[in-house]
Formats: sequence, structure tokens, C-alpha cells
Amino acid sequence: MNDRIALSPGTVALVTGASAGIGRAIAQTLSGQGCRVICAARRRDRLEALVEAMPNPAFALALDIADGKSVDGLLDRLPPEWRQIDILVNNAGHDLGGRQAFHLRDPDDMAAVMETNATGMMRATLAVLPGMQSRGKGHIVTIGSVNGVEWTANHSVYVASKFAVHGFTNSLRMELQGTGIRLSEVMPGLVRTEFAAARWRGDEARAEEFYARREAALSPQDVADAVLYVLNTPAHVNICDLVLRPA
Ligand SMILES: NC(=O)c1ccc[n+]([C@@H]2O[C@H](COP(=O)([O-])OP(=O)(O)OC[C@H]3O[C@@H](n4cnc5c(N)ncnc54)[C@H](OP(=O)(O)O)[C@@H]3O)[C@@H](O)[C@H]2O)c1
Repeated sequence: MNDRIALSPGTVALVTGASAGIGRAIAQTLSGQGCRVICAARRRDRLEALVEAMPNPAFALALDIADGKSVDGLLDRLPPEWRQIDILVNNAGHDLGGRQAFHLRDPDDMAAVMETNATGMMRATLAVLPGMQSRGKGHIVTIGSVNGVEWTANHSVYVASKFAVHGFTNSLRMELQGTGIRLSEVMPGLVRTEFAAARWRGDEARAEEFYARREAALSPQDVADAVLYVLNTPAHVNICDLVLRPA
């Protein structure tokens, strides 16, 4: 009843979006706890540097979560000893071209946000879930957002993507009740990462100004600590939603 699937030596965790920000902090934290971590993202050079510095065996997986072919076959691109994934952290996401009025949005940017944050997250889950089902255990932790349950103006596309995350996670949790597979959603408020720079296509000055105008922000490690807390609960406990805001 109190068995923990997480964080024993040899536990395999897949973290999407591990090349920066929250995902990188989660990957480092899980490796520090003894997990074997698959670090996935598009920027392979960053992943290789990260994996090199990990305290436990880790694997760099080039993955574009918005590319169906890249995600659907992801297990086939892993060496056999990395394919039994115990923990999936769905973290990859962005807000490309966001924080502006909807009528000014570029349709391709809009689609990229949905294809990454919503569809890509579901595809990654679909790639990993059957293995968890056959083993009768697993934990899927998805990084949602406070924007999955509340909204602000000029933020409609990102809000839509995170409402999709929230609805999907709640529905699938209900579907998997009693199977040994847990689903948790960690929903942060503002976190200081590369997220704002990515939104503005690498405009660091604009991103810096965005964060400077806001008094408080969480750090990526704050979110990683919350994920660790969620994973560390006994198997009969499921933390469904964990909302974090800067104090
Ligand atoms: N920062 C915040 O205030 C905040 C608040 C609440 C929730 N969140 C959520 O937290 C998650 C992580 O964001 P962050 O703040 O850590 O941002 P970040 O520093 O910009 O990191 C985003 C990560 O996602 C990856 N990514 C983006 N598009 C991808 C794709 N198509 N395929 C694979 N990986 C992709 C990036 O890697 P590559 O570019 O190398 O692919 C990067 O590793 C996101 O889901 C975001 O919505 C952020």
C-alpha cells in the first residue's frame, strides 16, 4: 500500500522540455534523487551538456513534441534499457508570439502553441502510457499553469492550451483510476525562466523588462521541489492539482 514507485535507484523518468527552465531543474533534481533521467527537447547540444553533468546515468533525446512522428515513435529511439518509463514529466511548452491581442496573432504561432502545449503533451502521454499499463504502475506529472483554471486578457491562446491540459489531465485521471497509474498536475504562477524570451523569439531585453515589471516570481527549483513532493507521496495518495504562486 505504501510502495513508492518513484525515486528508487533505477527508476526511469522522462522529462520533456529538459533543455531549459523548469524542465532542466526537474531533470537535475530527479537525477540527484537516483533516477535515470531521459532528458528530451529540441536543442540537443544543451541536453548533452546537461546529461554529462548529471550525478546518475541520463540520456539525451532529441524530441520535437510538436512533430507527431518524433513523439509517436519516441520509445523506438531509446535503447531497450531506457524504454520502461516509470515517470513521465510533461513539461515542454511555450507561448510563441503571445501576450498580445488575439486579432494580431500569427496563425502559425497560434497553432504551434496548441501543437506543443496540448497535442504534443497528449502524444507524449500516448507514447508512454501503454508500457505503464502493462506494468500496472506509473506516474505522469504534467506542468500546467494557473492559466489552466483562470484567464487574463491578451493571453487567449496560451490560456486555451493550458485549459486543454487541465481538462485532459482530469479526464484521463478518472479513466485510469485503480490501474496503479497516477496523474498529477503542477500549476505554477509566474516562474522566471527562458519562457518570456522564447515568447519574443529570443528578445532578452524585452523578457528582462517583463520580469522586472513583476515583483515576485518563482524559481525553476521551486517547481522542481513541488514535483518531487508529488512523486514522493505513497502509492495510494494522488496529488491531483498543486497550485504554486509567488508569495
Ligand atoms: N515560466 C512561467 O512563468 C510558467 C508558468 C506556468 C507554467 N509554465 C509552463 O512550464 C513549462 C516549462 O516552461 P519554462 O518556463 O521552463 O520555459 P523555458 O525556460 O522556455 O523552457 C521551455 C522548455 O520547453 C521545451 N520545448 C519548447 N517547445 C518544444 C518542442 N516543440 N519540443 C520539445 N521541447 C520543447 C524547450 O526546449 P527546446 O527549445 O530545446 O525544444 C525548453 O526546454 C511550460 O509548459 C510552461 O507553459 C511556465
